[in-house]
Amino acid sequence: MKVQVAENVYWVGAVDWNVRNFHGYTYTTPRGTTYNAYLVLGEKIALVDTVAAPFADEMLERIREFVDPARIDYLIANHGEIDHSGAIPRVLALAPQAKLICTAKGTESLGRYFGPLDRDFTVVKSGDRIDLGGLSLTFLEAPMLHWPDSMFTYIPERALLLPNDAFGQHLASAERFADQVDPWVLWDEAARYYANILLPFSPLVVKKIEEVQKMGLAIETIAPSHGVIWRKDPMQIVNAYLRWAQGETVARALVVYETMWGSTEQLARAIAEGIAEEGVGVALRGLPMADRTDVVKELLEARGLVVGSSTHNGDMLLNMAAFLADLRGLKPKGKLGAAFGSYGWAPRVVGEMEAQLREAGFEVVEANLAVKFAPSAEDLTWAWEFGREFARRIKSH
Ligand code: FEO
Repeated sequence: MKVQVAENVYWVGAVDWNVRNFHGYTYTTPRGTTYNAYLVLGEKIALVDTVAAPFADEMLERIREFVDPARIDYLIANHGEIDHSGAIPRVLALAPQAKLICTAKGTESLGRYFGPLDRDFTVVKSGDRIDLGGLSLTFLEAPMLHWPDSMFTYIPERALLLPNDAFGQHLASAERFADQVDPWVLWDEAARYYANILLPFSPLVVKKIEEVQKMGLAIETIAPSHGVIWRKDPMQIVNAYLRWAQGETVARALVVYETMWGSTEQLARAIAEGIAEEGVGVALRGLPMADRTDVVKELLEARGLVVGSSTHNGDMLLNMAAFLADLRGLKPKGKLGAAFGSYGWAPRVVGEMEAQLREAGFEVVEANLAVKFAPSAEDLTWAWEFGREFARRIKSH
């Protein structure tokens, strides 16, 4: 089936129904993903991005529905990460005259991934333009969205933005457009994607969106390189990105814990009940039962996070350690944090968790809430009262 994105612009990507993790296991993908490539048919022919290497044949078959790949004049590599660049060597082998277009940084990532290619890089920078005859491509560097090598490609004649990783979702579906997908699923995956991939680059997201707004580019369609294409009211995803990047939150808390013999879980429940008592929404997430990628997505719009761990060999439990490592990389903005825990012999982990929350950018509400072995009734009241105090802080934050 031919998928038209705009007149003479077609989706020629691949749907990966089965992938269940991305970036190693840092990001779970329960709904799979897509690798979107776009064929632009001017008098000259451009292919914008490719697909992961195992899907190269699928992409080439889609291209052949329109043209022989040998006729491709320009291969645009918006980003060097191999989920988009993996099929570049195959395309170059079939398209002897194709120019390989990328940013200066793209020469580093592509050069290292693929070694010497049989093609020189044609380096472009913001504002550079390629006339295809009837259609044209304008480039806009977008460093850190998602890598230093990233850029957007814009087709002014179709008011079409091809922003690679930005505005995507890891979502495999038979549908290619956002307006065809269940909105709950769409926004769940769009938020999961932002929270787990783009959150650390939020200041650059705001800057890039403002830059595009100042340029006054007409944008009728946003076609990212993962998931579905935004063709109806594409500004809805741009505005969501602005809200997420600016750290807009709601008065809501997450209590995330990992427990060894149940003591930390008892405290977690008491804290959550205290938070709820103050009328603040709260969810309790036990690790590793709760999926870390989901928890990070839930945190995107929550204002407060309370983390708890038992002590094991003088340290926090491993899934909590991984969660906090994730947060130190993602650096969510404008959030309150707190820590609690249980221990047998050495009450060290609460201080360590608080330190790591600070390192991740949280404003920490110190609780000093650590109980020896098992919480007493007084300890649980203490935890409940702390939950109430944390909720009040959330409401006034
Ligand atoms: Fe979808 Fe940064 O690659």
